[in-house]
Amino acid sequence: MNDKVIIFDTSLRDGEQALQASLSVKEKLQIAIALERMKIDIIEVGFPISSPGDFNSVREISKIIKNTKICSLARCIDKDIDVAADAMSVLEDFRIHIFLGTSDLHMKSKLNKNLNEILDMTIHSIKRAKRYTNDIEFSCEDAGRTSLDNLCRVVEHAISAGATTINIPDTVGYTLPNQFGNIIKSLYQKVPNIDKAIISVHCHNDLGMAVGNSISAILSGARQIEGTMNGIGERAGNAALEEIIMAIIARKDILNVYTTIKTKEIYKTSKIVSQICNMPIPANKAIIGSNAFSHSSGIHQDGILKNRQNYEIISPQLIGLKEKKLNLTSRSGRAAVKHRMKQMGYKDNEYDINKLYVSFLKLADKKGQVFDYDLEALAFINNQQE
Ligand code: KIV
Ligand code: ZN
Repeated sequence: MNDKVIIFDTSLRDGEQALQASLSVKEKLQIAIALERMKIDIIEVGFPISSPGDFNSVREISKIIKNTKICSLARCIDKDIDVAADAMSVLEDFRIHIFLGTSDLHMKSKLNKNLNEILDMTIHSIKRAKRYTNDIEFSCEDAGRTSLDNLCRVVEHAISAGATTINIPDTVGYTLPNQFGNIIKSLYQKVPNIDKAIISVHCHNDLGMAVGNSISAILSGARQIEGTMNGIGERAGNAALEEIIMAIIARKDILNVYTTIKTKEIYKTSKIVSQICNMPIPANKAIIGSNAFSHSSGIHQDGILKNRQNYEIISPQLIGLKEKKLNLTSRSGRAAVKHRMKQMGYKDNEYDINKLYVSFLKLADKKGQVFDYDLEALAFINNQQE
């Protein structure tokens, strides 16, 4: 098996829900264009019934984006579905994503419905969406807390009614990786028509498990992953797509799947999303944080200079970053200082590395990071004193 995993980005819908200020049409378009350039397979661009502004941005994005499938969200309500289809009507091919709570908690305390009513609503809404498109995704909201029997029944009915993608969201980020993986495995074992749909997952990060749960779902057969750039989204956010995409590459030996994402666009896209959404990226964030490819300790810097693979499992160029210079601090060793001097054009016999290293350490203790101009000055002073 070496299947493709479809990458579904919901930065503009689930991600935008969590921002302090909503994005303008222009800002959403800039993000959509960056996602298209990165060759994201499907972009969920909004929830058109939620506001006239959202409807308008879905319509405008639908006019511009040509190479990525556009999707809009709708509840199991006729008006929602009709409005979602209307917002995307300039397109020949689009996806409608319908969702409905299926956990006991959501059925009782949110929707006040029993399982039979939930099944009826599921079937009715999928049939309604079929008036507009054959590409219908159905989400069992709060699937992570839905009983397996109920989940299997809803999924089977949704597929029979015509859903082509079944999404299993861990809406409140409650499950653990082995548990979530088992849910997906059980669906494959128990739902008779499961092979007629793609199984998708949509994990939230309330316990910090969103990426782990998504990876576990891939191992169990999920072939669409939903998430956002930089992991933005409701509360603690959604699964960070850049992490999942790079895990699929770095651990192909175990996962045995692939994506068609243009990974060289990841860094740029991440920056665009961070800036437009006003959501700074923590320095230690996997893949895209400013420290993700920085090496600090002397032992690590020495190891990197000998062979980058000693301490790098992914090449920074793969995500569109240039090779990073080593940060020179009091933790750096002689090897790193010597390497930087060589990069700056100094020959070994033009300075005394032992002397330079002593004065480098003194300065590093005082000012933290030592820059190229500091090294030049130190080498010059040392030579004068000889
Ligand atoms: O988290 C969730 O359950 C959702 C659905 C609308 C898919 O965002
Ligand atoms: Zn969500």
